[in-house]
Amino acid sequence: MPAKPAKKTRKIDAFNLAPGRVLARKYEVIRQLGAGWEGEVYLIRELATGIERTAKLFFPQRNLRDKNTHFYATKLHKLRHCPIVIQYSHQDTITVQGEPVTLLISEYVEGDLLSQFIQRHPGKRLPPFEAVHLLHALASGMECIHALGEYHGDLHSDNIIVEGFGLRFDLKLVDLFHLGAPTREHIRMDTVDMIHVFYEALGGQKHYARQPPEIKYIINGLKRSLILKKFKSAGQLRQHLETMRWS
Ligand SMILES: Nc1ncnc2c1ncn2[C@@H]1O[C@H](COP(=O)(O)OP(=O)(O)O)[C@@H](O)[C@H]1O
Ligand SMILES: [Mg+2]
Repeated sequence: MPAKPAKKTRKIDAFNLAPGRVLARKYEVIRQLGAGWEGEVYLIRELATGIERTAKLFFPQRNLRDKNTHFYATKLHKLRHCPIVIQYSHQDTITVQGEPVTLLISEYVEGDLLSQFIQRHPGKRLPPFEAVHLLHALASGMECIHALGEYHGDLHSDNIIVEGFGLRFDLKLVDLFHLGAPTREHIRMDTVDMIHVFYEALGGQKHYARQPPEIKYIINGLKRSLILKKFKSAGQLRQHLETMRWS
């Protein structure tokens, strides 16, 4: 007898959940926060408590046998004591267009995306000293992740939320990407990505030539090999920032 064919996962390209829609009889959609390759992110309210949270819904064809949600949730849990990482709560399942859809519930972080934060600054860039403080907050936060042998995997200014900004930056990271078991190469990739974020915060190519030598020493013209010669992990970068001298 021929084997029964496995049930095909129906492709869903957009959930487009309307505000007010109730999910799993527990949460109400407030609004959509983002959409990407993997799925969509919503701000939701837990009905029983009124607490706002974030739900990340994964397109079924991008999450076969719940592989991606499993990796994502496990990694967030492993990193739960790193203050820079959003706090994961739990997993749930809803039905959309007749398909079971897995969602991950996390804390909701109020703040601006770093990309917007930079755009709102005068001249759409941060002055060098402020950018160094930003990089220091990012490197210190990432050091916790690297110290646990883990990596972020998709570090850029739309995955960094500026939760607070005063004497120092309070940052939160979302959207960790699974590129396989952690390796030294993944940690190096994060380190190079941090330098790219720093470069973007300083106004990018347009302002690079006029940056002070202390800044150029860190950015290295964005040359990967030169960056990695100086900084192989977030910890090394943080140490440099704490001991560097300004002329
Ligand atoms: N926990 C969170 N708190 C607040 N906003 C969030 C949270 N998670 C995601 N977002 C917002 O939703 C956007 C998309 O989420 P993200 O996890 O980056 O998914 P993707 O980039 O794959 O669409 C983010 O850029 C951010 O603006
Ligand atoms: Mg993202």
